[in-house]
Amino acid sequence: MPATVIIGTQWGDEGKGKVVDLLAADADVVVRFHGGNNAGHTLVVNGEKTVLNLVPAGVLHPGRICMLGPGVVIDPEILVGEIEALRARGYLAEDRWLRVSDQAHLILPYHRAIDNARERMRGAGSIGTTGRGIGPAYEDKMARTGIRVGDLFDEVGFREALERNVREKNAHLQGLLGEAPLAFEEILARAAAYRERLRPFVTDTGAELRAALAGGRRVLLEGAQGMMLDVDHGTYPFVTSSNCVAGAAAAGAGVPPRAIERVVGIAKAYTTRVGGGPFPTELTDALGDRLRADGDEYGATTGRPRRCGWFDAVVVRQAVVLSAVDQLALTKLDVLTGIDPLRICTAYDLAGRRLELPPAGGRAWERLTPQYEELPGWRESLAGARTLDDLPANARRYVDRLQSLVGVPAALVSIGAQRDQTIRVRALS
Ligand code: IMP
Repeated sequence: MPATVIIGTQWGDEGKGKVVDLLAADADVVVRFHGGNNAGHTLVVNGEKTVLNLVPAGVLHPGRICMLGPGVVIDPEILVGEIEALRARGYLAEDRWLRVSDQAHLILPYHRAIDNARERMRGAGSIGTTGRGIGPAYEDKMARTGIRVGDLFDEVGFREALERNVREKNAHLQGLLGEAPLAFEEILARAAAYRERLRPFVTDTGAELRAALAGGRRVLLEGAQGMMLDVDHGTYPFVTSSNCVAGAAAAGAGVPPRAIERVVGIAKAYTTRVGGGPFPTELTDALGDRLRADGDEYGATTGRPRRCGWFDAVVVRQAVVLSAVDQLALTKLDVLTGIDPLRICTAYDLAGRRLELPPAGGRAWERLTPQYEELPGWRESLAGARTLDDLPANARRYVDRLQSLVGVPAALVSIGAQRDQTIRVRALS
């Protein structure tokens, strides 16, 4: 049974959580394959809000196996807290429903300290990271000095590796970043507590996942962030430290690429981004404020206000091309109600050249001008719509135009946070 990958097609916060939650109803296993607790899903089920930073959105369906794959970076403090919060609400009743890769790298306190200190030093040129230590943890992984989840269970080896790392990081923190050093014994003691709390969940998730696929189980591979935050293909250096394209799912989850059959791209009906970096269709006026207010565009992880702007077909087109997106899930269409006219960016102009896809280099982003097309808006509420035909004619026209501009049909249109506020156009998986 092949796997489906779900990715964000913009700068993250497209509403992947709601879509994964919907698709998880028909899945057996849901796997996060990259990123860490820089991600945040806000899910509303039966009027109750749940924010998830690490555990896949499938966890709200009892019995689903949720996995954190080798490509994820895990802050044990956050994971333990999330498990406890879920249990307190009656979710995750059985240990075997959560599987944590022994190959995933740990985010430790020095990663957070370095992330935040660097951002402070960068001042106005900061990336605007989530401050969760994501970049420094991936740096250690690539430098081959990182400590993995499985290392927690080799107490002697763990102590040695941690001691070496804390020594090196403290030299960095004090010498280069002007920060106070961290106490090794304190980090060690906390890690020991997490070891026991995490023990029941830690396993070779790749092997379990491959066995699940071989056994005909239905698998969802849940991406975090979005295409334009991809470390190679996004707006570098204003990106996250992992690959967010569908191609990353195979390596990050530990399955062969051929196991992936379908890619669902999540796109918001307008565009948002948190943190610094290029954003051609950004609205810095009252309309941007209105989108932020109506769309509740504040980071689920950090609470930061998101920058808001028009739908950018160039960006989503790039995600479609790079990840071979088969179907779109279009979210938050309801937020556009009452805005008239609406604009869509169809291409960029770069020194007289028309670009249908984004430029590769950093500097070009500063010099391009978005090319817009205007569409009439609608005033009617979308609340009761359950089919495309229920939509006001102009909302329908907007959806049709987005689909044709990015070249992929929408299989689902979301018109509110609740599970039932969804128009299902065709089967998604
Ligand atoms: P980092 O991933 O914390 O290093 O942050 C790098 C950039 O990615 C910053 O601009 C963050 O705001 C952005 N970012 C990271 N995770 C998310 C996410 O889940 N949604 C939206 N933006 C994110």
